Amino acid sequence: MVDLSTTLSSLRLKNPTMLASGIMDEDAGSIQRMMDCGAGAIVTKSIGIQPREGYPNPTVLELESGLLNAMGLPNPGIDHYGTELLHLKKSKIPIIGSIFAAEVKDFIFLAQKMEQFGAHAVELNVSCPHAKHYGVEVGCDVVLLQNIISSIKRKIHLPVFVKLSPNIMDLVDIVQAVEKAKADAIVAINTVKAMKIDIETGRPILANKVGGYSGKAIKPIGIRCVYDIAQHVGIPIIGVGGITTGEDAIEYFMAGASAVQIGSAVYYRGPEVFRLICREIQTWMKNHRYEKITEFIGVALQ
Ligand SMILES: Cc1cc2nc3c(=O)[nH]c(=O)nc-3n(C[C@H](O)[C@H](O)[C@H](O)COP(=O)(O)O)c2cc1C
Repeated sequence: MVDLSTTLSSLRLKNPTMLASGIMDEDAGSIQRMMDCGAGAIVTKSIGIQPREGYPNPTVLELESGLLNAMGLPNPGIDHYGTELLHLKKSKIPIIGSIFAAEVKDFIFLAQKMEQFGAHAVELNVSCPHAKHYGVEVGCDVVLLQNIISSIKRKIHLPVFVKLSPNIMDLVDIVQAVEKAKADAIVAINTVKAMKIDIETGRPILANKVGGYSGKAIKPIGIRCVYDIAQHVGIPIIGVGGITTGEDAIEYFMAGASAVQIGSAVYYRGPEVFRLICREIQTWMKNHRYEKITEFIGVALQ
């Protein structure tokens, strides 16, 4: 019997495939659909205090081996989004509320709201590569980040996950600070800062010019980040970036991830991707005589 369950702090997931933030998670209906398609947990769209329109179009481009996006964190604001989450309050699948802000007090406010609205954990998006003041600037300021994490931990009872960017040089210093501040898990990686230029017009195509690259092309970057992080912290790591097949997920587990998030592959393989990836992991495990994922988490580190 193959057991796909995994744990992230106090959360128990029936399988290790989670929906990544920002993909098909804008309302209760789309989240329910992802749950019905087998996701082991859901991360919400990143939500701020006020409604935000995001950037003008074009906001998403399909490139050779992935997607380039600069959405600009569009969201309806925490109070409106909360009414969507209340529809899912009875759900048995864990929901992780992703939040973004620039200041400690706003992060605390959003985390408390997520707790009230029934989220099972919060994920701090401190890694958006294209949102001024709300993104990587927060995630690479060690003092600010530690202050955000420890302040939230004092105010809410939920596990706190921290989502980091591959665009920072001092990843090891940051993850050690994150663990010291008592975060419950690290999520790696957010999109990779990137750009596409139209050679006929000589202009960047995205309205915001710069965006974040996701999908197959970034998997080796995500694997390297998870591998580096796993050597320096003891808290669980959630791997994300380019996971499209069960084999991709297994590679992340071997690098040290306890669960994985799937974003762009929902676009490439459809919402059924969660069930498909679980089946692929199960087949591989059977063929290699593994019964539990924990048997091969981090084997590449040994
Ligand atoms: C269209 C789009 C929107 C995204 N929005 C968010 C977001 O709101 N918050 C966040 O933390 N990450 C966001 N991401 C990043 C994903 O959650 C994920 O970290 C990244 O896409 C890498 O995973 P993937 O290769 O499986 O897509 C977004 C990605 C895409 C493609």
